[in-house]
Amino acid sequence: MNSPQRPPAEGAAMNPMKVGLLGLGVVGGGTWTVLSRNAEEIARRAGRRIEVTRAAMRDVAKARTRVGDSILVDTDVHALVRDPNIDIVVELIGGDTLARELVLEAIAQGKHVVTANKALLAKHGNEIFAAASERGVMVAFEAAVAGGVPIIKAIREGLTANRIQWVAGIINGTTNFILSEMRSRGLPFAEVLAEAQRLGYAEADPTFDVEGVDAAHKLTLLASLAFGVPVQFERAHIEGISQLAQEDIAHAERLGYRIKLLGINAPPRRSHRAARAPGAGAGRALLANVEGAMNAVLVKGDAVGPTLYYGQGAGEEPTASAVVADLVDVTRLHTADPGNRVPHLAFQPDAMSDTPILPIEQVSTSYYLRLRVDDQPGVLADIARILADRAISIGSMIQQPSHIGGADIIFLTHEALEGNVNQAIERIEALPFVRSRVTRLRVENLT
Ligand code: NDP
Ligand code: HSE
Repeated sequence: MNSPQRPPAEGAAMNPMKVGLLGLGVVGGGTWTVLSRNAEEIARRAGRRIEVTRAAMRDVAKARTRVGDSILVDTDVHALVRDPNIDIVVELIGGDTLARELVLEAIAQGKHVVTANKALLAKHGNEIFAAASERGVMVAFEAAVAGGVPIIKAIREGLTANRIQWVAGIINGTTNFILSEMRSRGLPFAEVLAEAQRLGYAEADPTFDVEGVDAAHKLTLLASLAFGVPVQFERAHIEGISQLAQEDIAHAERLGYRIKLLGINAPPRRSHRAARAPGAGAGRALLANVEGAMNAVLVKGDAVGPTLYYGQGAGEEPTASAVVADLVDVTRLHTADPGNRVPHLAFQPDAMSDTPILPIEQVSTSYYLRLRVDDQPGVLADIARILADRAISIGSMIQQPSHIGGADIIFLTHEALEGNVNQAIERIEALPFVRSRVTRLRVENLT
């Protein structure tokens, strides 16, 4: 049997796609390395070569240690964006002020943009995507959510047949790394955070990681992709892990749960919720076993059922893997009619719907509550009364002496309304025998 005649590799004859890198830090450096190391493979996939021809950052000497003299490197980020020889601008400097300016300028110049900047897109995505559609260019952002895990492509393309029912994920590597190390090695929070910074996982401002802001940025983008709503970060409910104590991790384990910073979005049953964190994932659930800087996103579609996406959510080459995938995508689609490209946010821009986001007070879930009290008669009865008066039913309870005197009481509640739980906490904290603030974690069963 004759084998089919293969056409000559067209890409070999085509001009390379020229890329300008804004930023050569952790992700920019990784992008350079992966593009250089896998240049042949990437050209065969993209149909033509993809070459970085210019980069801009503040510390040019540092850049030279990475790229040598092979390309033009300077500090002029605006000149790079305006360079007529650049086809794709890759924004990897972070932040949402200069980055916004540069991305909009690149679009105005008719250049495609690839970015890993979730903070930028969560705050200015609507403006940026509208400008890009108007100009007929692409803005690709696979690296902005879950690092190397191709979750954006999965939702935007692979699951496009489905009505998405909910999305829940561990989408911040730094906090997952901190929680894992605190639990498995008993290390203190600050020490593990410093290690996450050293490994390049943390944001330039790590409070974005530990206070849940980075997860909320990413969840905001996932919500738009999954549910066809505009990007609306300002309506996300955000909580982090900085107030979490070592003993909460131990108590949760004893109760069969594991504490994770989860981003959850679940309309219409409970409407949208963003960065509901910290949340205690069910011990047996898949997400509970995701450790270290790994990310995992569970997406439930009405046709496909639950699907799981897992991999490295941060770090140099894992994130570069997603940036380069976007470069290949943009290269492949560069000559396609803009009207026939995959929409930036999965839904056609004129078919987005502005589904209201449920305020967190109206969300219903189960809770872990820990409080420190004087060990005396009547304490439990008073607390139980406050909970019962607000229709909060107790599922289980642990009481144990505290190492600093008094007793720690831990409740797991059945499903209750967050607004009622807030009221109950306020009343409990005002009781004379209650010695501490109440620690409250949400318990997610993800079914
Ligand atoms: P880094 O801090 O490692 O790198 C930032 C780069 O941008 C540096 O080269 C820096 O140059 C340059 N830069 C910053 N400000 C300016 C400026 N005003 N003018 C010129 N150059 C500037 O950050 P990351 O690589 O970690 O992150 C980049 C982006 O990727 C961020 O949006 C981040 O959220 C996102 N991201 C990061 C991940 C990670 O694992 N690190 C994963 C997924 C997304 P210089 O060093 O000279 O100051
Ligand atoms: N700081 C982020 C994290 C980087 O820890 O997940 C990846 O977006």
